[in-house]
Amino acid sequence: MAVTSALILIFVGAIFLWSLLDRWKSHVLKRPPSPLKLPIFGHLLHLTPSLLDPNKLKIKWKFMVDFMNNNYKPPYIITHELSKQYGPLTNVKFGVNNSSIIFNNGKPYREIKHFTVKNLKDFGFGKKQNMETAVEDELVDFLHYFQQTTLNDGPRTIKMEHMFTLPVLNILWIMVAGLRFSYDDEKLHRLIKVVEEISKTHDIGGNILMAFPGLRFLFPELTGHAHQLRLYSKLHQFFRDIMHMRLAENGFLQFDCADTPRDFTDIFIQEMNKRKKVNGNESQIFTEEQFIMVCLDLFTAGAETTANTLDFAMFYLMLNQHVQKKVQAEIDEVIGPNRLPRLKDRHMMPYTEATLLETQRMCNVIPLVHRVSIADTTLGPYNIQKGDVMVMNTYSIHMDERIWGDPHVFRPERFLDKDGNVNNLPSFMPFGMGKRVCIGETLARHTMFTFFTAIMQRYSITPAEKYKVPEVKPVKGYTLNPEPFYTYVQPRF
Ligand code: HEM
Repeated sequence: MAVTSALILIFVGAIFLWSLLDRWKSHVLKRPPSPLKLPIFGHLLHLTPSLLDPNKLKIKWKFMVDFMNNNYKPPYIITHELSKQYGPLTNVKFGVNNSSIIFNNGKPYREIKHFTVKNLKDFGFGKKQNMETAVEDELVDFLHYFQQTTLNDGPRTIKMEHMFTLPVLNILWIMVAGLRFSYDDEKLHRLIKVVEEISKTHDIGGNILMAFPGLRFLFPELTGHAHQLRLYSKLHQFFRDIMHMRLAENGFLQFDCADTPRDFTDIFIQEMNKRKKVNGNESQIFTEEQFIMVCLDLFTAGAETTANTLDFAMFYLMLNQHVQKKVQAEIDEVIGPNRLPRLKDRHMMPYTEATLLETQRMCNVIPLVHRVSIADTTLGPYNIQKGDVMVMNTYSIHMDERIWGDPHVFRPERFLDKDGNVNNLPSFMPFGMGKRVCIGETLARHTMFTFFTAIMQRYSITPAEKYKVPEVKPVKGYTLNPEPFYTYVQPRF
């Protein structure tokens, strides 16, 4: 007994000593302060969902907070000031895949990002006229589907769970592959399931692989890595089929660049052929694999984010009837009941716009943005080493009392100035910031405005009586989404 107690004491003492030494080393090396670190486990104990709680964050993840407390300035100001002193802070490495956009860096990243944004524009990506057509065409079908759902699922009570994923995926499909799925297409529903499951397997708050990536090789099933790979391979196959179908089309390989491409897939194949002519089969970029990776980026980054934000908008408006009434009054005044909302209405509808901004501030579908330092550097008083992962916690910025006063209150007015115009608040950054800012912002904003406004124009929503209203607690994954909820839908006319 005494021996066991002594061994335990020695073990605990050794851990304590190790932690003290580590702290001292960090201090001498001017590393950013961090919570208590344990041998082998590092900071794993702190990598819990509390990562998202700004109050706990204040105690546990003191770096940015300490940094700001001396003379409090919001992080975006600090980043801006430091970049003047230290050079471009956004020139950092993020990931290791040199085919995709999201996990790519340097020249290959710039090349594929530029190509994608430039060429998707011709098919509706952020270009006013084409984008409007793609979004509005989808809206007509969605409204029909929405109406059917309200009638079929009990008397005007509907379950809100990924209601918007389907139309958002369709809008992306049109631009990428010129295809639309019907709303009961099995294949589309399978695709949606896979995209959703992939998001869930990337729980950024508490996934053990975030702390010990090496475990995936030792315990592929136990850590969920094998499951992740199976999901990804389904998605890969989906995009591979698209490309193969195109390549199989008569004479496509001889497709002349002067011909009119129908969508992003055509453009990509043209570029592949061009590069092949110059480099033979040696080309590392514009390959079939790269096409798959870029599609993966667009669908995983674009679908859930936009659709989840729309789900949240419904949720907040169901709970905030006074906001819903104001939005509807504005819709009635600017659009009326007889036509669908259009892009040009947006600038005449500041309250509706502010409501969507407030939704984004509160829902934080992408709560954390990661960067990896590409070189040893200093940030303020701290040394940052090459390979250090830095996390921008947009959730804590959007929910910081010092910036917003009453962050937990849903109040669109905070985004309006005294004349009722929309205020661009610099501490609001749902699409990230800097060189890696979201490429889909324009499309996402337009899609959200059109779908949200069209629903509010036609229906009023209130909590469904016999169902419990879920807590305002997002479900975690790579993106956040609200818990499924039931709402009572009343047609307005
Ligand atoms: C409400 C909807 C959306 C939100 C909140 C959102 C948010 C974000 C955020 C926070 C980032 C990271 C920015 C950074 O690292 O600083 C990002 C990157 C990205 N987003 Fe979005 N996004 C949305 C919609 C879309 C759409 C519709 C697409 C495309 C179809 C898209 C494609 C991308 C891509 C490709 C990147 C990586 C950009 C790069 O690394 O250079 N996003 N998004």
